[in-house]
Amino acid sequence: MVEMAEIGLIGLGTMGGNLALNIAESGVRIAVFNRTYGRTQAVMDEAGPLADTLAPAESLEAFVQSLAIPRKIILLVPAGWPVDDQIAALKPLLAPGDLIIDAGNSDWRETTRRAAEAAPQLHLGLGVSGGAEGARHGPSMMAGGTAEAYAMVKDVLTAIAADFEGAPCVAHLGPDGAGHYVKMVHNGIEYADMQMIAEIYGVMRDGSGMTAVEMAPVFERWNGGTLRSYLIEITGEIAKATDPKTGQAMLDVITDSAGQKGTGRWTVIDAQMRAAPLSAVEAAVTARVLSARLAARAEGEDRFGAAPTPLAEGAISEAELESALIAGKIIAYAQGFDLLATASTEEDWVLPLPQVAEIWRAGCIIRSAMLDDMASALTEAPERSLILAPHFAGLLEEHMPGLRKTVALAVAHGLPLPALSAALTYFDVMRTGRGTANMLQAQRDFFGQHGFERLDRPGETDLHGPWVG
Ligand SMILES: NC(=O)c1ccc[n+]([C@@H]2O[C@H](COP(=O)([O-])OP(=O)(O)OC[C@H]3O[C@@H](n4cnc5c(N)ncnc54)[C@H](OP(=O)(O)O)[C@@H]3O)[C@@H](O)[C@H]2O)c1
Repeated sequence: MVEMAEIGLIGLGTMGGNLALNIAESGVRIAVFNRTYGRTQAVMDEAGPLADTLAPAESLEAFVQSLAIPRKIILLVPAGWPVDDQIAALKPLLAPGDLIIDAGNSDWRETTRRAAEAAPQLHLGLGVSGGAEGARHGPSMMAGGTAEAYAMVKDVLTAIAADFEGAPCVAHLGPDGAGHYVKMVHNGIEYADMQMIAEIYGVMRDGSGMTAVEMAPVFERWNGGTLRSYLIEITGEIAKATDPKTGQAMLDVITDSAGQKGTGRWTVIDAQMRAAPLSAVEAAVTARVLSARLAARAEGEDRFGAAPTPLAEGAISEAELESALIAGKIIAYAQGFDLLATASTEEDWVLPLPQVAEIWRAGCIIRSAMLDDMASALTEAPERSLILAPHFAGLLEEHMPGLRKTVALAVAHGLPLPALSAALTYFDVMRTGRGTANMLQAQRDFFGQHGFERLDRPGETDLHGPWVG
């Protein structure tokens, strides 16, 4: 008799192929299906001894029949209509109580809709982070759905998740779209984290005239300190890589036009809709958009000239640049967690924020030493902004001068630092008890009779200035 598979996976691309091998390696028999069978064969060839634990199917029907009931089927196809098409193709073949797990980067609202439409099957939205390497050896996973749905796959997810000092980096974070929502915000933070690193690279390259190879040890040193993280680690590796074709630094032969698949943009739109401040991520998303305008930027440089002068020798130290990244990063994460808290309240999710920080400590792209301290700070007071948590407030006090000096010098020399500037501005706004919105209110009242509140009459919002007749 043919052994039934405990779980199935459809879509053997970068993520699906690696996740299938990870599941097989954990000892769980897994059925696999891909639209193009050649890809299934390639994964089987790659599987080596794990091939015995994989059950490849040439048709969707054969795939479904090879699964133990209740069936559990992971989808790793592109987000959007391919997910709906795949669900539509599967549904007639499934039994009540079978579970579809959408492990791609789906829009959380679509996940909420699919969960509502799933009956008599169940739907779990699973955010998976860690890229190909994470999928193969241990990703961070953020689940949204019913407790019943999560319980059906909890063991296998726990077995394949990244491990942080014995704690698996997977959690059930809330209903329907909650997991994909948290994954979306994770990606938004990732945009800011990457952009800030790229900006500091720019100061070193265009301000201090350093070569990529000279920067590599700097990133390596930073990776030994407060900034220890996957992104800083790979940045060091990238900086020292050489192009096999030309012998030049790899970074120097790559076009400065960055792609995006949309999760950063979704995060920013979502933050705006909720009136949650997310300026560092917004700046990072805009920076990617501008990066794609290569011709327009070249024209701009022809017309106005490049940044005027490099920085004077020794104008900024390695420690100050490190400080800029530390302070900027804390602010980007504080904004991200602020957005999660806002959405949690608005959507009635009760997102466990300390647990979110915990499952990001390993496996995902934004994993970093700081997340362990963030988990502790959020455990102490989940409602408090991370910038006010004693540990991070102390770090900000220590490193803000470095961020301020870096941004100030860059501005004076025409070097663009959009995300770091946004972080600095956010900090300055958040430390200003009396800002300048009194002027905005006066203007609004002047032209639109919108009314304002006076300092000496709190609670009364319909007062007007002498300009209202
Ligand atoms: N790559 C990453 O680092 C990463 C990280 C986290 C999350 N994700 C998310 O994971 C999902 C998969 O990404 P990926 O990078 O693995 O993509 P990928 O390498 O492009 O693979 C896509 C897979 O989906 C299949 N597929 C495409 N269109 C389909 C359709 N209409 N119906 C059925 N199958 C279809 C493809 O089959 P064929 O072989 O027949 O083309 C392929 O197996 C996406 O939602 C992505 O955003 C990716």
